[in-house]
Amino acid sequence: MSDKIALITGASSGIGKSFAEILAKEGYNLILVARRKQKLNALAENLTKQFSIESKVLVADLAKLEQVKVVEETIKSLEHIDILVNNAGFGLYSSFTEDNYERQLDMVNVHVVASYMFCRAAVPIMLRKNEGIIINVSSMSGLMTKYGNVTYTTTKAFLIVLSESLQEELRNTNIKIQALCPGMTYSEFHDTKELEEFDRSTVPKRLWMCSNEVVTKSLRAARKGKVVYVPGFLNRLSLLFFKLFLVRKISQCFISRNEKKA
Ligand SMILES: NC(=O)c1ccc[n+]([C@@H]2O[C@H](COP(=O)([O-])OP(=O)(O)OC[C@H]3O[C@@H](n4cnc5c(N)ncnc54)[C@H](OP(=O)(O)O)[C@@H]3O)[C@@H](O)[C@H]2O)c1
Repeated sequence: MSDKIALITGASSGIGKSFAEILAKEGYNLILVARRKQKLNALAENLTKQFSIESKVLVADLAKLEQVKVVEETIKSLEHIDILVNNAGFGLYSSFTEDNYERQLDMVNVHVVASYMFCRAAVPIMLRKNEGIIINVSSMSGLMTKYGNVTYTTTKAFLIVLSESLQEELRNTNIKIQALCPGMTYSEFHDTKELEEFDRSTVPKRLWMCSNEVVTKSLRAARKGKVVYVPGFLNRLSLLFFKLFLVRKISQCFISRNEKKA
């Protein structure tokens, strides 16, 4: 492969697929990672034809450490990598202590371990050219850590802290890191068996974004150096309300404690 290379995990649907389509249109050669081979092959074939780029498919289950290693080795073998998108992920409603222990560990591997290892593999290669972009797809949940849903929230918060601290370490380089924190986004995310009880109509339509819009905004923000990025005005507004509500709750707590002491 020559020219620009982007590696995208979770490229078989939703936000990852949009990253693949938009970056292919920009002329990037692609390495597409996910479990569903047929979907990846169809996407690769289509984008290769449409945009005269090269696309490689890498089938890997990122919940399995030996398969994470294979992707890591692939990254290390590249002469250069221009964009890395750590996007693969899934949702889970579960109580931390009661159920779904295996799936919670899978989530830690997919969201945390794989992203961490791929960042570690990609940064030294990006440093050789002193340029590159890494987008870690987190979630608004990662910024709303008083919200419950422990494993999802914690793993997504990890990606935010990883992105911020890595960007700080790389502050004197041209490498840009972003934690992308989408709100409700149309994709297959809510169609999995774990979230099958989720009813999209319970969330107001105006709070939903399409994955193409999320990705276009994310790439624009990443190129401008925005490290923690929440796409969509309404999402940013609801986050502000969430924080103000928390600040009010905390200050109420201090006030009532002090009242008790007095
Ligand atoms: N949709 C939302 O409302 C929303 C909001 C905030 C954040 N996010 C985040 O956005 C990211 C993308 O999700 P999406 O909304 O685009 O959902 P999606 O359409 O379900 O896409 C998820 C992608 O992750 C891949 N994936 C899942 N488990 C994997 C595993 N074990 N190994 C390898 N790949 C795996 C899936 O591919 P295979 O099934 O083919 O493996 C798929 O390509 C996720 O990290 C999610 O947490 C989504």
